[in-house]
Amino acid sequence: NPTRPQMEEPAALRPAACRAKGGAPGFKVAVVGAAGGIGQSLSLLMKMNPLVSVLHLYDVVNTPGVTADVSHMDTSAVVRGFIGQQQLEAALTGMDLVIIPAGLPRKPGMTRDDLFNKNAGIVRSICEGVAKSCPNAIVNLISNPVNSTVPIAAEVFKRAGTYCPKRLLGVTTLDVARANTFVAEVLGVDPREVNVPVVGGHAGVTILPLLSQVSPPCSFTPDEISYLTNRIQNGGTEVVEAKAGAGSATLSMAFAAAKFADACLRGMRGDAGIVECSYVASEVTELPFFASKVRLGRGGAEEILPLGPLNDFERPAWRRRRRS
Ligand code: NAD
Ligand code: LMR
Repeated sequence: NPTRPQMEEPAALRPAACRAKGGAPGFKVAVVGAAGGIGQSLSLLMKMNPLVSVLHLYDVVNTPGVTADVSHMDTSAVVRGFIGQQQLEAALTGMDLVIIPAGLPRKPGMTRDDLFNKNAGIVRSICEGVAKSCPNAIVNLISNPVNSTVPIAAEVFKRAGTYCPKRLLGVTTLDVARANTFVAEVLGVDPREVNVPVVGGHAGVTILPLLSQVSPPCSFTPDEISYLTNRIQNGGTEVVEAKAGAGSATLSMAFAAAKFADACLRGMRGDAGIVECSYVASEVTELPFFASKVRLGRGGAEEILPLGPLNDFERPAWRRRRRS
């Protein structure tokens, strides 16, 4: 029955805990907005992650179908679906990691800020649910405008008395993925060998690739710097225009979100040396929130790493503001 809101375990099955093998550490992960463009692919990728033992899929529409579909993948995570505000609490209770790709995407001609009115309310209600049902969960926030939704989430958690800056992480991994891809194209190397730190924020010129800190070390001509910076800053708009009204980046975003979530889970497991860029509460600049390299650990963003040496082109960039 496709209208059945929640996937019950058939009575003939033994409880999930009895079926789980191996005793490997498993985390409980929720995808909120799981039926959306990002949410569906992200749910698939999280079902493939061996660190996930329980996967909760929540949305306000269409979760039963997505849940039934993803649950047939023969990987170990146990999948449960939840639909509608009245099931938000059940979806979030006990979760270790909550990934939020809920909210409207851009259409051509819109800036990310144009999403603020709708998405601020969506993020607020979801974060109120997190504060109530899984206050110690680490949150990966994808919904745009990230530069504003992360501060909104912080305010919700402060009001609920559950705010821990280490546990609230804005997802900017797609900026890094784009930077790695475009830099690799210019250098003629495999993108998997390239790592470009991208700092600042997640809109227009607030997206600042640190091309002076690319790993492996390399140098660029002024024309290459201008091309790369512009392409990375406008990668989101490039996809929005190519999709011509059908939304924004979903597949590359799901890939990036799954990569970031995996890094968070490895940090939560206690792996050492997990460093990713993320938009977090920060004292690295005069701004209260800033994307930069963070060291991920058991409690989330355990350490915010210094920006490192910046060149003249990079230093003042996050002080200039532009909408996109
Ligand atoms: P989409 O419209 O395809 O999916 C959004 C989903 O959110 C829908 O299924 C919708 O039902 C659901 N939703 C709406 N209100 C909800 C609520 N209160 N609780 C739970 N779910 C709710 O959009 P999309 O393409 O998946 O994009 C989602 C968001 O991610 C957008 O805001 C987009 O701008 C943003 N995004 C961010 C990045 C980034 O780099 N951080 C990249 C791409 C997209
Ligand atoms: C992106 O960078 O692809 C996202 O922020 C979506 C958008 O609106 O550009």
